[in-house]
Amino acid sequence: MLQNITLVKILNSNKIYLVQKFISIKKKIDHFKKKSVSIPGDKSLSIRFILLSSLSQGKCTAYNILKSDDVISAIKNIKKLGIKIIMKKSKCEVYGKGLSGYNYRKNLILDAGNSGTTARLLCSILIDAEYPIKIIGDKSLTKRDMRRIIKPLKLFGAKFKDNNGKLPILIKGSRFTKPINYYENLGSAQCKSAVMIAALKTSGITKIKSLPSRNHTELLFKNVLNVPIKINNKRKYDLIEVKGKNKIKPFNYKIPGDISSAAFFIVLTLLSKNSQLVLKNININPSRIGIIKILRMMGAKIKFFNKQNYKGEINGDILVKSTKNLKAINLDSSLNSSAIDEFLLIFLVASKCKGVSTFVNLSELNQKESRRLDWGIKILKMMNVKVIKTKNYGIKIWGNKNFETKKNYIIKDYLKDHRIFMLSVIAALSLGGNWKIYDPESFKTSFPTFLEMLNSLGAKIK
Ligand code: S3P
Repeated sequence: MLQNITLVKILNSNKIYLVQKFISIKKKIDHFKKKSVSIPGDKSLSIRFILLSSLSQGKCTAYNILKSDDVISAIKNIKKLGIKIIMKKSKCEVYGKGLSGYNYRKNLILDAGNSGTTARLLCSILIDAEYPIKIIGDKSLTKRDMRRIIKPLKLFGAKFKDNNGKLPILIKGSRFTKPINYYENLGSAQCKSAVMIAALKTSGITKIKSLPSRNHTELLFKNVLNVPIKINNKRKYDLIEVKGKNKIKPFNYKIPGDISSAAFFIVLTLLSKNSQLVLKNININPSRIGIIKILRMMGAKIKFFNKQNYKGEINGDILVKSTKNLKAINLDSSLNSSAIDEFLLIFLVASKCKGVSTFVNLSELNQKESRRLDWGIKILKMMNVKVIKTKNYGIKIWGNKNFETKKNYIIKDYLKDHRIFMLSVIAALSLGGNWKIYDPESFKTSFPTFLEMLNSLGAKIK
């Protein structure tokens, strides 16, 4: 047991903790039936709530906010900018001070931890910062591209010093920010949202043409913050116009469950024998349910019910049943953006489908917390699944509907990417084998109750 314990010093504190080095899984999960689970709040909406409420004219309350490391990073940084935030058991209160209400100080350092959304959206709310502000992040975040937001934010008038397009960066705002016209051509909701949020701090109209990506910021602007906005969804791109310098009234928001977290339980149920699960009150915004559409194309039995429109977002319950005869697919890139965080799981399902599956244009996967496309290939190869990387960041997977394993596996040195940790757990519980998965705290980035919830379904994770 002692070989599995290490000492860790917590950042900015003198405390030293004993932490587990890895978890072990030696047994597949037994079938589970007629169970229902509540998945924690959506990460994208939780971070957006913290940042946007800080710009409002008073007290805003969020219910069911996600209490994960990424959201805590966002909260800590907004507090450093002089905004009061109180986290209670079931709600989070943010006392906004208006669009120009931050207390900018000299030598301020903001640490976005592991969170790309926090780092990129923070920059957008700092385009009017009086003093240079340094943004830093952890080892994984420091490897990620920031040029994608530096480029448009410079056009607004902000100045940047960066480390070859990466963190740490120094941002110095401008008193004379101006609206811009911008073409967001990556299909990145973080870039689109960074431009939209920066636009709030300028007088005039910012016009964005963007490839489709999750549209939470548009829906919040339109239905919650009452920002003057025009949205025109064309077939291949969206045209968005945001008018800035409009006062934001305080607002309340109930955050639904996160489909990206739910996806781990959906895939586990699908691949386990004789199982069934209901996932309650999940955000099923059409721009987020690529995973469901793709799994249905593979033959999965998944139903939505109790659908509701909440301030423009569609939320509902999801029923998923084990499915025996899953079939391979050839996917074009039209669903890539709406399933962007779920591809590792989709690759896992493809390995248990009859036939050969292909996926294309997944370069953005290598821009995440780790190089996820490469990791997906690495993990499948490790499990003896036949898989190759094809041109233009594609992947081809030879599936086997009877695929099960009894071998030993070690997952290590994956930059603590939460989704790689959780994928490995689901692979172990659904396909078998004897797994050691290192850095067990990594899932706390997005889904702090992940292991607890699996154990309540009958998993034996130590
Ligand atoms: C997010 C957008 C996506 C996603 C990330 C959260 C957001 O990133 O991968 O986990 O909240 O806007 P990109 O917009 O860079 O694709």
